Formats: sequence, structure tokens, C-alpha cells
Amino acid sequence: MNHKGKCLFRFAIFLFALLYTATGMAQQRKSILPRELWPDDKGNHIQAHGGGITKVKDTYYWYGEERRQGLDSNYRYVSCYSSKDLMNWKFRGDVFKMTDPDSLGKKWVLERPKVYHNIKTRKYIMYMHIDGQVKGQKGNYSYARVGVAIGDSPTGPFNFIRTFRPLGQESRDIGQFIDDDGSAYLIFEDRPVKGFHIAKLSEDYLDVEKDICIIKAPLEGGAVVKYNGLYYAIGSALTSWNPNPNKYATAKSLAGPWSEFEDIAPPETNTYGSQSTFMLKVVGTKSTAVIFVADKWKPRTQWDSRYLWMPLEIGDGKLRLPEPKPWRINVKTGETAFIK
Ligand code: GAL
Repeated sequence: MNHKGKCLFRFAIFLFALLYTATGMAQQRKSILPRELWPDDKGNHIQAHGGGITKVKDTYYWYGEERRQGLDSNYRYVSCYSSKDLMNWKFRGDVFKMTDPDSLGKKWVLERPKVYHNIKTRKYIMYMHIDGQVKGQKGNYSYARVGVAIGDSPTGPFNFIRTFRPLGQESRDIGQFIDDDGSAYLIFEDRPVKGFHIAKLSEDYLDVEKDICIIKAPLEGGAVVKYNGLYYAIGSALTSWNPNPNKYATAKSLAGPWSEFEDIAPPETNTYGSQSTFMLKVVGTKSTAVIFVADKWKPRTQWDSRYLWMPLEIGDGKLRLPEPKPWRINVKTGETAFIK
């Protein structure tokens, strides 16, 4: 290559590097846009519906129902995404997939997966709602069980262990709560008792050991957070995929007594079209944020279902979901800000 050729070659490399950085930078998201499409690192809308978030060291892992188009209909899938800032998410693959565990028929479901990190056993334990039709019983949600899978790393792969009814009870929507002392709880909705359980997991997290409380309110999409020494529980009414006014209650102890349930947002907004799934606490150097993680379902085009993530106004026994608008978070300081 002559001198001119070398110069041209270097210039081409320079241009390529510039373009690469520029597009790379353009992909860096600096905000969370509730209810909009939320592209992952590959530009695909995040598929982590009914999800849960697990923090390992400084990385957040978001697990959820994989509902992209073109999946093999014999399987149900759980996706995983990772992020260090909660705004940019990298697709880590479908970390779990399984076939119909018990002849539940074509419409069987795997919903609301949650992953617990067991520090003692160094395992990652996935809980999920497994449901479908049971012969001789009505409806597609009569199996009412949880499924459990185990993995050696947050990105799996996870191996299926079994399905069961926690504490012998019917279990539909599940939620996850880790207390400040590290104790792990499964929240599960139980139709016959018209309420939801907050139940402690066994030491290896592979079983549900005992009820701490049954909150006698017919609510699903259950989530709990502890903030400034007070427990806050939220849930949504039993209206299937349709949004409704989600509600919250508080208690000084997980075992209760729990206060009366109150709306988290103006009831006529039906929780701004969303349904509760999780509450994520981000403890920073300057403040603590609690993020409402919810789904805006599109039952006929599930792959296009959206997420409503918003920082909650929380404290002194009150919890309020502000009107959705673009916002950002600094996970180091815990500070959140709306973007005008
Ligand atoms: C909702 C529930 C979803 C899904 C749906 C099916 O109430 O929260 O996870 O089970 O019903 O109708």
C-alpha cells in the first residue's frame, strides 16, 4: 500500500470507529419511558412480562415471561436481561424453557417468574406460576401451582425440579419479597381463602415453609417492600388482563395487622392502564427509591405488552403512584428525576 492508500485506509478506520461510537452512544438510554416500547441492547422490545428483578453484586437481572412471536408452542420460556443502570438492558437469552409438566393441554401457562439468589447454597432458584386445565374442572387456571427450577448462575441455564401447591394451597399470581435481613418470601394468591399469602421459603429456597401472613383481600399481582421500617403491600383486583385500581396497605410487621387497602393512584385511571408485578428498592448513597414495576398487558398481542415503571412517592404510611412520565435514575445515589 502506498502512502495515499495508507492514509485512506486510516481515514476509513477512523470513520468506522466514529460511527460505531456514535451509534453505540445513541443506543445508550438515559431515561425510562413508561408504557413505550423498551428496546434491549439489540433493539428488540424487552420480553420480560410479569417479571421480577434480582440484584447480584452491582448487576440487576430482570426475568420475565418471554412472549416474542415465533416461539415453539410446545414450550414456555423465561427470558433474562441484565443492567447496571436499570435503563439499558442486555438480553441474556431465554434462561429457562419447559414443556407441559402434567398434561395440562395446549393452553397451559408459565407466568410471573421470579428468581431468588441463595447465598448459602450459591444457587439461583426460580419460582413461577404454572397453570392449565385439569380434567373434570372448569377453566384454564385450575391447576394453580408453582413451579421451581434451579441454576448455578443468574443467567442459568435453569433446570426444572417440580411443580407443587405451596403449603397445599391453590397458588396463582406469585410475587417475591426479600426482607432487609435477607429472608426470602413467596407471595401467592389463593382463591379459596380470598386473599394472598406471604410465606417464608425453606433454607435452600426449594420449598415454601410457612405462612407468615394471609392478607384477606382478593388481590393478585402481589408485591411487598419494606421502606423506613414499614412494610407496604400492593395488589390488583381479580380482573384478568384488564387493569383496575391497584391498592396498598401497610404493616409494622409482615405478620400484620395490615391497614385497610387504599388506592395507589386515582381509581379512574385504573393504575394508568397497568397491573402491579413487583416493587424494586434501590438503596443509594443519597436516597432510597422504590420503583413500581407493572405490566400494561395487550392480551391479543402479548409480545407488544408494555411496562410501566415509575418511582413511587412513599413514606410515613402513604404510597402514591405518580402520573407516568419519562424519568431517570442514578442507581449509585438512589436519586430519581423526571425529564421535562
Ligand atoms: C391476570 C394475572 C396474569 C394472568 C392473567 C390471565 O389477572 O395477573 O398474570 O394470569 O390474569 O387472565
